[in-house]
Amino acid sequence: MQTPPDQKTLWNGPAGNAWVEAQALLDQMLQPMADVLIADISALRPGRVLDIGCGTGATTIAAARATGGDAVGVDISEPMLALARTRAAGARATFVCADAQTNAFDAGSFDALMSRFGVMFFDDTAAAFANLRRAARHGAALRFVVWRSAEENLFLTTAERAAASLLPDMPQRQLEGPGPGPFALADKTRTAALLKDSGWGAIEIRPLDLTCGFPAQDLEQYLTRVGPLGVYLERADDTTRRRVGEGVRAAFDPYVKGAAVRFDAACWMLSAEAR
Ligand SMILES: C[S@@+](CC[C@H](N)C(=O)[O-])C[C@H]1O[C@@H](n2cnc3c(N)ncnc32)[C@H](O)[C@@H]1O
Repeated sequence: MQTPPDQKTLWNGPAGNAWVEAQALLDQMLQPMADVLIADISALRPGRVLDIGCGTGATTIAAARATGGDAVGVDISEPMLALARTRAAGARATFVCADAQTNAFDAGSFDALMSRFGVMFFDDTAAAFANLRRAARHGAALRFVVWRSAEENLFLTTAERAAASLLPDMPQRQLEGPGPGPFALADKTRTAALLKDSGWGAIEIRPLDLTCGFPAQDLEQYLTRVGPLGVYLERADDTTRRRVGEGVRAAFDPYVKGAAVRFDAACWMLSAEAR
């Protein structure tokens, strides 16, 4: 069994490359979360917003346009930020390549902090939330969209579960516990305590249930490029990729509705205020 790479290696290698290649698909799939987040953030009328784990920049650019202020995206992935920069032409959006857990942001320099699925990959989430609190001005708002549990989001693990018997040496990711990983903030009580202990107040964590989708013709790209199976297949030869793609495809049948793939996404919307 291969050992999974660390987050910096992953997001500067196979995972980051996959998110760049599948940017259009993933932004379409995650647009419902962006819509909620940007509506919330723009209602706050912040002058300066920090988008954490901004990836290829869709939400950073949307926040800059919707608020008329400045938006800064921070991410550890050079390839994802390179794409974000090319997409940001004409918008008041800038990007910093850094670990949001440790980066020395100017203290009190942001009016709002936001993230779409970019805050579940820290080595030490308590330290990251405390560092982000230092970057926020007193009274600044925090709005993070994160996944609820893997059990409530079966679509997200469909490919790796279906591929497990075909690829016994594929690393299995940890689906429960503190992460790092997509479900690291699924435990609402623990997340609330982490926020409180790092200087955030007025904490509210509410379920956000949305329907997501993308064209069925993009399903092969999704299942062979994104997630742990995509990471594994990046190094595989064409025959293996085709064999696994065909073997896994049927597991997605329940999600294919005519010309579209549709699934229910179970998220938390985290809201807090810098105290
Ligand atoms: C699931 S992707 C989400 C990307 C983007 N927010 C979106 O919705 O398209 C997670 C992102 O978090 C970034 N990330 C992971 N650990 C990070 C860290 N310690 N500091 C900053 N960014 C990080 C990854 O590079 C990746 O771009």
